[in-house]
Amino acid sequence: MNAHITNTIKLAEFSSVVFFVGAGMSAESGVPTYRGAGGIWTQYRYQDFACQRAFDADPQGVLDFHEVRREAVLTCKPHAGHYALAKLQAAHPRLHVITQNIDGMLQRAGVHVDAELHGSLWRMRCAKHGIREDAATGQFSTRRCPDCDAWLRPDITWFEDAVNEDVFTKAGELIATAELFISVGTSAAVYPAANFIPLARRAGARMIEINPERTEASTLFERCYALPASEALTTLFV
Ligand code: APR
Repeated sequence: MNAHITNTIKLAEFSSVVFFVGAGMSAESGVPTYRGAGGIWTQYRYQDFACQRAFDADPQGVLDFHEVRREAVLTCKPHAGHYALAKLQAAHPRLHVITQNIDGMLQRAGVHVDAELHGSLWRMRCAKHGIREDAATGQFSTRRCPDCDAWLRPDITWFEDAVNEDVFTKAGELIATAELFISVGTSAAVYPAANFIPLARRAGARMIEINPERTEASTLFERCYALPASEALTTLFV
């Protein structure tokens, strides 16, 4: 591979590219991150709103919390960086997008997401009857399973949950064969998702990080661009 990482990165020089995305990708659209200034977990305790224990104790309260998030996300729009990524993806046969985000903002901009590592705000699941789409409005169309009347929980990987093995396996396979790995807007602080960064490096990928701030994984990257996602995605890549 004789691809170069210069000021303008020609994606066509890389046979396979992976964008690994975190909450910072949605920040400029107005969706709060988790740990930065004004981050969700700086205002709320995940123990009260984002774990199975909280859901078992107060399903309505947990569903209210997620409904507020759904409604907030619907007031936001994808930014130029989202659309630039969709365009880059359309022009490259093997450009994959792996996201930790549950907000669906990438998909709203026409990006094909190969793996949603932490699930989605726009699906619900019943422990017995599985997954159902629920994306029409901010409000949940129903909070109870139509088949068994059990509480439906958002199809999100909460704290203390096991991850979706199939989704992680698929992501791992794509990352293990990536020639270029680009991390956008993640603090690289949450595991096991953050393990994908050293995996990409061990697999020999060229490594780029896009984040206005240094992260726990910055030393693993060949190039760190201290830029907001929208600027980086509209200027760095062709
Ligand atoms: N462009 C790029 N990056 C940005 C921008 C921006 N405009 N604004 C903020 N960032 C960066 C921050 O510097 C920070 O490093 O985005 C990162 C967001 O980090 P977190 O809030 O920790 O979000 P993330 O890494 O996606 O969290 C991982 O944690 O709470 C769980 O399941 C949740 O998927 C989430 C996981």
